[in-house]
Amino acid sequence: MNLLSNKPFILVTGGTSGIGASTALHFADAGASVLALGLDAQGPHAPCHPRIQCLELDVCDSAQLKQTIAELPRLDALINAAGISRHEQEYQPEAFQQVLHINLTAVMQASMAAATHLLQSKGCIVNVASMYSYFGSKDRPAYSASKGGIVQLTRSLAQTWAEAGVRVNAVAPGWIATPLSEGLMADPDASASILSRTPMQRWGQASEVASVIGFLCSPAASFVNGAVIPVDGGYLTA
Ligand SMILES: NC(=O)c1ccc[n+]([C@@H]2O[C@H](COP(=O)([O-])OP(=O)(O)OC[C@H]3O[C@@H](n4cnc5c(N)ncnc54)[C@H](O)[C@@H]3O)[C@@H](O)[C@H]2O)c1
Repeated sequence: MNLLSNKPFILVTGGTSGIGASTALHFADAGASVLALGLDAQGPHAPCHPRIQCLELDVCDSAQLKQTIAELPRLDALINAAGISRHEQEYQPEAFQQVLHINLTAVMQASMAAATHLLQSKGCIVNVASMYSYFGSKDRPAYSASKGGIVQLTRSLAQTWAEAGVRVNAVAPGWIATPLSEGLMADPDASASILSRTPMQRWGQASEVASVIGFLCSPAASFVNGAVIPVDGGYLTA
């Protein structure tokens, strides 16, 4: 990959689709080198850009995740975007644990593995929360628990490295058009109910989340730490 030592280096977990892929493109377009890791790294949703390398890596493989991050030449920002929902299956212990592992435990593991690099670069972390960080969900109890946990983990880690100049924030996307939400978008009842509560009356685009992540990583956000920013077209106001 075209890694220039004086250019920022960004790691995006879940960078192979949706919000993560859009975030990888956002940073690459701004001149950074990006490692986008996730599943289906050569698939149709993976970002294509000369400064983005897509890597097939399951974040549940903790040893591989740790080693991959340790071997990076430098790191200026870690974006934790990998996430799944198993819907009603989350009432089964195995699915509950899998969702918690991908959406929450792996975020902690990636953050700890990235800390050495970030302390050196005075970099930052941005996590991806959700509307389900605010609401419970009888349809996806593990997803909701994991996203509630992400908010508290963000606030905790925001304290951990603050004095050393490493900021940790989160975005809480509303209803964003991505492969993850395809099912909801295709369901006329579910989609109508979402749109009726969204003051802006439309689904968000992944790029609209990516640009807020970009802001949180920029010098413009130099005193923003431990914040969770909704990117939801006003959904939370209703
Ligand atoms: N789309 C929405 O409306 C919405 C709303 C709120 C929050 N989010 C959150 O945004 C993040 C991205 O979701 P999206 O909508 O872009 O979905 P998506 O399905 O398009 O992308 C999910 C990404 O996570 C990766 N991933 C899943 N399991 C993985 C694993 N075991 N190891 C490594 N990578 C794995 C996938 O490969 C993919 O790159 C998730 O954390 C999701 O919870 C999405």
